[in-house]
Amino acid sequence: MVKKVAVIGAGVSGLISLKCCVDEGLEPTCFEGTEDIGGLWRFKETVDDGRASIYQSVITNTSKEMSCFSDFPMPEDFPNFLHNSKLLEYFRIVAKKFDLLKYIQFQTTVLSVQRRPDFASSGQWEIVTVSNGKERSTVFDAVMVCSGHHILPHLPLQSFPGIEKFKGQYFHSRQYKQTEGFEGKRILVIGLGNSASDIAVELSKKAAQVFISTRHGSWVKSRISDDGYPWDMIFHTRFASMLRNTLPRTVLKWMTEQQMNQWFSHENYGLEPQNKYLMKEVVLNDDLPSRLLCGLVKVKPRVKELTETTAVFEDGTMEEDIDVIVFATGYTFSFPFLEETVVKVENNMVSLYKCIFPPQLQKSTLACIGLIQPLGSIFPTVELQARWVTRVFKDLCTLPSESIMMADIIKRNEKRIDLFGKSNSQILQTNYIDYLDELALEIGVKPDPFSLLLKDPKLAIKLYFGPCNSYQYRLVGPGQWEGARSAIFTQNQRILKPLKTRSLKASSTFPLSFLLKILGLLAILVGFLLQLQ
Ligand SMILES: Cc1cc2nc3c(=O)[nH]c(=O)nc-3n(C[C@H](O)[C@H](O)[C@H](O)COP(=O)(O)OP(=O)(O)OC[C@H]3O[C@@H](n4cnc5c(N)ncnc54)[C@H](O)[C@@H]3O)c2cc1C
Ligand SMILES: *[C@@H]1O[C@H](CO)[C@@H](O)[C@H](O)[C@H]1NC(C)=O
Repeated sequence: MVKKVAVIGAGVSGLISLKCCVDEGLEPTCFEGTEDIGGLWRFKETVDDGRASIYQSVITNTSKEMSCFSDFPMPEDFPNFLHNSKLLEYFRIVAKKFDLLKYIQFQTTVLSVQRRPDFASSGQWEIVTVSNGKERSTVFDAVMVCSGHHILPHLPLQSFPGIEKFKGQYFHSRQYKQTEGFEGKRILVIGLGNSASDIAVELSKKAAQVFISTRHGSWVKSRISDDGYPWDMIFHTRFASMLRNTLPRTVLKWMTEQQMNQWFSHENYGLEPQNKYLMKEVVLNDDLPSRLLCGLVKVKPRVKELTETTAVFEDGTMEEDIDVIVFATGYTFSFPFLEETVVKVENNMVSLYKCIFPPQLQKSTLACIGLIQPLGSIFPTVELQARWVTRVFKDLCTLPSESIMMADIIKRNEKRIDLFGKSNSQILQTNYIDYLDELALEIGVKPDPFSLLLKDPKLAIKLYFGPCNSYQYRLVGPGQWEGARSAIFTQNQRILKPLKTRSLKASSTFPLSFLLKILGLLAILVGFLLQLQ
């Protein structure tokens, strides 16, 4: 019987794992190397080894209603996209509300996690930690690894011939904190991910000129979508997800292109992705197109070569007098405290069942939480992971045989390459709702809009056409929360509240769209039933 669970790390993944352990009646102990909670989201002026490091201005790219935990909405007056300090505040409120701090041993680093000699029967682990120079060994029934994957910089210097001659300054994006010291400089940012775009935009306000070099291009989206709602509330609905899964590829590609180019033409701005079908690397940035239009940032292709002061690009063009190169080239990950026979990282890849469990252990008592990059918010994702894992630990859910798990891992990987491409940066990428539903199905908490159609049509419509928020996974099954339905219906209020800082008279609306949606859902149901026959 699993009772004592070790949680490694007190970032978001660690905190939610703690909460899920408590919810399931397990006894967790969390080891956190630093002196505080929050992991990546606790900004520090310094760049510390073994810890994620963010720039001062980081704002979430997933909205508050799509990023909160399933039984605890963010405070009504919190903005929809949160500055890192505000998100940390939410995590502090969560930790206090669920009384999680008492389980955490701070400034305690995990050195090793090893199977006990009787592992085949007990499933137990021996964990060695160090605190204040003192080592200690403790036995646990199960382990949740929540150590994060934005810690080790990926710095592909070998792809930049001549870098050793370069006279200017160069560093990985994790070293970047704010604009001071970059005034009047000519700066080259390598990469076109979220961090690269943020840093290029921010520096362009002070620098003489910023260049952004990209091999493959990217779709760039605004945080602001239809009617000014957060992008993810419009993008991540079950209806939209169903369309993306069932439409023929060519139609989907065409639709994606139309959607992405609504704001500005990616072709004209030199950003168009090489493979336009792939869903990868949607960059969320409200300012990049405007910076490009103003000429403060310029897009360049891949760097072919560097000299003392010049960058030579693939297309033969050159930019001279470069002072600074920022490598926003992403991260790699490793688990220095785990044996290779437990979790093996090879070519930046791991083989984990449903991105969580090593398939080859005799007992499923070790899980990796948060080793994933969903197209939506990671917070509800790690929450469902932790809910499932704690129930597997308790034998309330069981895993299939090793061969079935291996086959699933291979299939998942093929599907990922098909959807997101082979690039190294896409190795942890997953679909959003599909993955959430997959976990929810295992736990028994997946909501079914169709079965609700007669009983609670209003809710059914919301579930299918509304944003797929985490509350949806608290409506039925284990861990049900009586506030879930109401949280779904009061969502709009919490979205608008922080914007209503100047009161205006409300106007009335006729619920025509509601009627249309009911009819639409019925049509889909009928279509589905006909197909079954
Ligand atoms: C710039 C940036 C912006 C992002 N924005 C978003 C966003 O808007 N929305 C979103 O959904 N996701 C976003 N992400 C993804 C991000 O991965 C998650 O938001 C999340 O913070 C990951 O949390 P974590 O707990 O898994 O890891 P971390 O936050 O890195 O926490 C890991 C913790 O484990 C501790 N630790 C590590 N090793 C040990 C050890 N051996 N012993 C003891 N303790 C240890 C560390 O000290 C740390 O506290 C962003 C990522 C980056 C880099
Ligand atoms: C948000 O930004 C982080 C950091 O670049 C990235 O890992 C994550 O995938 C982004 N999320 C979405 C939904 O685009």
